[in-house]
Amino acid sequence: EKGTYPHYMLKEIDEQPLVMRKIVQNYQDENGALEVDSDIVKAMNNADRIYIIAAGTSYHAGLVGKQFIEKLAEIPVEVHISSEFGYNMPLLSQKPLFVFISQSGETADSRQVLVQVKEMGHKALTITNVAGSTLSREADYTLLLHAGPEIAVASTKAYTAQLAVLAILADVTAKSRGINAEFDLVQELGIVANAMEVLCDAKEDFESIAREYLAVTRNCFFIGRGIDFYVGLEGALKLKEISYIQAEGFAGGELKHGTIALIEEGTPVIAIATQDFVNLSIRGNVKEVAARGANPCIISMEGLEMDGDRFVIPEVNSLLTPLISVIPMQLISYYAALHRDCDVDKPRNLAKSVTVE
Ligand code: M6R
Repeated sequence: EKGTYPHYMLKEIDEQPLVMRKIVQNYQDENGALEVDSDIVKAMNNADRIYIIAAGTSYHAGLVGKQFIEKLAEIPVEVHISSEFGYNMPLLSQKPLFVFISQSGETADSRQVLVQVKEMGHKALTITNVAGSTLSREADYTLLLHAGPEIAVASTKAYTAQLAVLAILADVTAKSRGINAEFDLVQELGIVANAMEVLCDAKEDFESIAREYLAVTRNCFFIGRGIDFYVGLEGALKLKEISYIQAEGFAGGELKHGTIALIEEGTPVIAIATQDFVNLSIRGNVKEVAARGANPCIISMEGLEMDGDRFVIPEVNSLLTPLISVIPMQLISYYAALHRDCDVDKPRNLAKSVTVE
């Protein structure tokens, strides 16, 4: 039930700190160390390459998950859109492991790929919010999100839960391979949960950003580099699906290769800047669009902020920033949809789970 909340989406955004803490608890052993079913860790270690298959928001979580797995566990990862993979299969490695990410566990496009790769004799792991869902039943292994039911069509808490579970999977796999993490993930996810709380308490700021930048605009761009780019893709999807504003996520450096032609006087460009090593480059990209009349809105992170940034998120581990930088995207989209009188929880033309191919 949504209780005192006007919309499920807002309730589910607010649940994220709690979900983080629940996930950590669910994946801790009696000594407090993170653990994942040993068969799953074995399957990860047996793989020479991991293929993540997903759609929509879950695909965006997969892009970040690739960074986690490659950086922490040092296993190569490819991320594919499920609706493309079936008929456009890349040349597979010798020992692939397939990882399906799906909130509902019912997405037909993903299921079609699962059936295909099982027929080929490959192993599959499903990361889902729904125990007993089709993708969970048909895969060899399942990891649950423990996010609680997600009712709003726009996925929010499932995305951050997917990232947390992927980080845990990467971390536990890394340890099993003798790779020492530079941080304690339990502690870092605790810091993430606290930072999420700070952001959920800053709703007025995001409401005012939505009013200022998105109340009347026709379109909007999201830019970032590295994992900030992936969060930009998710920000654009969120904004499109609930506010019907034409939105695109772009790698900061790619905009000038064509799309910058769309920048007009007042075009909102939301820039995400949470990564030290590309902080100056993304800010250079902001200058490029500002010089062409764009209305930039920079969301940066403590320690990297500069004059004129519109919002500064609390500092978290640099690999885990998508877990919190996505919250401004969710809340800005939510308030943009409200300002434009859209049906937040049930956007037009969409269903919660897409069970047709
Ligand atoms: O249930 P799934 O995670 O497999 O769903 C995949 C997409 O249909 C879903 O993420 C969709 O993009 C959301 N409406 C995004 O908010």
